[in-house]
Amino acid sequence: MVEVVPAVLVKSREELLEHIARVRESVSVVHIDIMDNEFVPNKTIGLESLSELPDGISYEFHWMVKNPERWIAKINGNHLHLVHVETINKKNWEALTKICVRSGCRLGLVLNPETSIEKLEPYIKEVSRVVVMAVHPGFYGQKYISDVEEKIRALRTGFPELEVEVDGGVNPETAERACGAGANFLAAASAVYSAKNPREAIENISAAGRHGAGTGE
Ligand code: DX5
Ligand code: ZN
Repeated sequence: MVEVVPAVLVKSREELLEHIARVRESVSVVHIDIMDNEFVPNKTIGLESLSELPDGISYEFHWMVKNPERWIAKINGNHLHLVHVETINKKNWEALTKICVRSGCRLGLVLNPETSIEKLEPYIKEVSRVVVMAVHPGFYGQKYISDVEEKIRALRTGFPELEVEVDGGVNPETAERACGAGANFLAAASAVYSAKNPREAIENISAAGRHGAGTGE
């Protein structure tokens, strides 16, 4: 199984709704990038834009922020919250797990390109998803760093049931490589939204991913 998740990195609620509308017939989940201009040098929409999102589709939030627990505490609903392991310590992890018990949310961990998978060790048993960044977080349209495939491979071998997502620089060519290494979720912004036909772009990325994974054309 390979799932393509369109990534939305925008600065207004209007753009967010427009991006969701462009893919909602083609996918079941949308990846929303949130940046605070502290953890990364860029700022996106914030909490004020995230209430009452369109239903009939699920959301995963990629928190590129300092203190993700302060943001996630203010979001209702059973979403998947992807937090950077670089922003996590024992104390805020405890706070995050409590928030999720209360709201029914799920947690996933994200690794920057230079962060080793050993950093996941204290928390990995508690999550079902790890996101391997294939670009330095902050902007869309960057080049895929193929070195991170080593981490994808190690995660796939060490944790056969884990959902491994790759985020950054995903297109049909890199999707094939990432899925060949063991990824089964692909977050993609520019390859989806710069296409004339996003549905076709999603299908092409997915087919390339399945080909890489050895599960069909
Ligand atoms: C990068 C974001 C990614 C980004 C992907 O900081 O986390 O989700 O939007 O963009 P592309 O697919 O263009 O690399
Ligand atoms: Zn992202």
